[in-house]
Amino acid sequence: MLRSVRSLVRFARPEWRGSRRRLARCGNIDDLRRIAQRRLPAGVFDYIDGAAEDERTMAENAAAYGRVRIEPRILVDVAKVDASTTLLGRRMPYPLALAPTGFTRIAHWEGELAVARAAAKAGLPYALSTLGTRSIEELAAVSDGDKWFQLYVWRDRGLAKELMARAREAGFTCIMPTVDTAVLGRRERDVRRGFTLPPKIGPSTLVDGIRHPAWTWNLVRREPITFSSVAGHVGIDGSTAVALSTYVATQFDPSFSWRDIEWVRSEAGMPVMLKGVQSAADVRTAASIGVDAVVLSNHGGRQFEGAPAPLDLLPEVMDSVGESIEVLVDGGVRRGSDVVKAVRLGARAVLIGRPYLYGLAAAGEEGVSWVISHLTSGIDRTLRLTGAPAIADVVLHRDAAR
Ligand code: GLV
Repeated sequence: MLRSVRSLVRFARPEWRGSRRRLARCGNIDDLRRIAQRRLPAGVFDYIDGAAEDERTMAENAAAYGRVRIEPRILVDVAKVDASTTLLGRRMPYPLALAPTGFTRIAHWEGELAVARAAAKAGLPYALSTLGTRSIEELAAVSDGDKWFQLYVWRDRGLAKELMARAREAGFTCIMPTVDTAVLGRRERDVRRGFTLPPKIGPSTLVDGIRHPAWTWNLVRREPITFSSVAGHVGIDGSTAVALSTYVATQFDPSFSWRDIEWVRSEAGMPVMLKGVQSAADVRTAASIGVDAVVLSNHGGRQFEGAPAPLDLLPEVMDSVGESIEVLVDGGVRRGSDVVKAVRLGARAVLIGRPYLYGLAAAGEEGVSWVISHLTSGIDRTLRLTGAPAIADVVLHRDAAR
């Protein structure tokens, strides 16, 4: 009797490391999001998780993927599948890149360094934000992977020029001007909370801070959070708490326009990818002036509320520009099958933002790696279950083929 019970019971070896334990219980990115919500102060979580106004654009970005169907084919040899691609002349194992996110250290003290390491390990590009909390040089020191630099164009053009030169010097391979941020979108969760960057610990946030001791301990114990790449530029380095909308309104140049893109191209000395393009007409303009790539993006629904979902734009964009410019998408990607759908509809690659921030908040670098492998294994599984050795072989249901 005892022997048969013993043969049935298998004791799992206890996992002492909190990050591993948390990840072991995650099935998908929503689970990671819930862990991030538990671990972060409410204001910080809402800054990451929230979007503009009624947040319908953010929801629509994800819903668009649910409307596309794939017709699985049977009895195809899928022992080997290959989702690799070429982007800006560089080979990558999956059509996936990690998007720039501002103030990443509020999710985890290592911030952008952890993200860059995880991306490099997976052979995927990572874009450092101008509003990053680790500098261009710090990033270059920890990652020999493909690094892009996301550029907000400052009223002080000299600063934008200096940032591009430093990125070039540090071996970055792409300059990515974000073109959807003439002013900041109205993020009402942040307005209600009076959220600032860096977060202020005041009477209203004190209790929140006490309820999240690990996060608060790291905030006070580590070096102060600043916009590291622009540190030293008086008044604009993030060392004093400011509402992001005020910051953007005073520092970024709302007159930045098409005629300045030529200037960016000449200063960059490397491929230029416009992020935040939201219409086929603008993709055509970008292609006609020789921009290398665009990201169809509404900034994860954080900027203009009411913009089309990037996935919905793809068929018209591909019809009108074909292969003349490389087109990427972001917003709403939560599964490998989403990546497959976007690429099958014409995207070169897909960027993810919030998913890796949830991973970072939940488990640091390991959390980011978890998200990457959740998506890449999902891509492989999608190809195998749909009888497609490569993404080009995937058959979309006719409603989605448009
Ligand atoms: C910064 O780019 C943000 O969306 O908050």
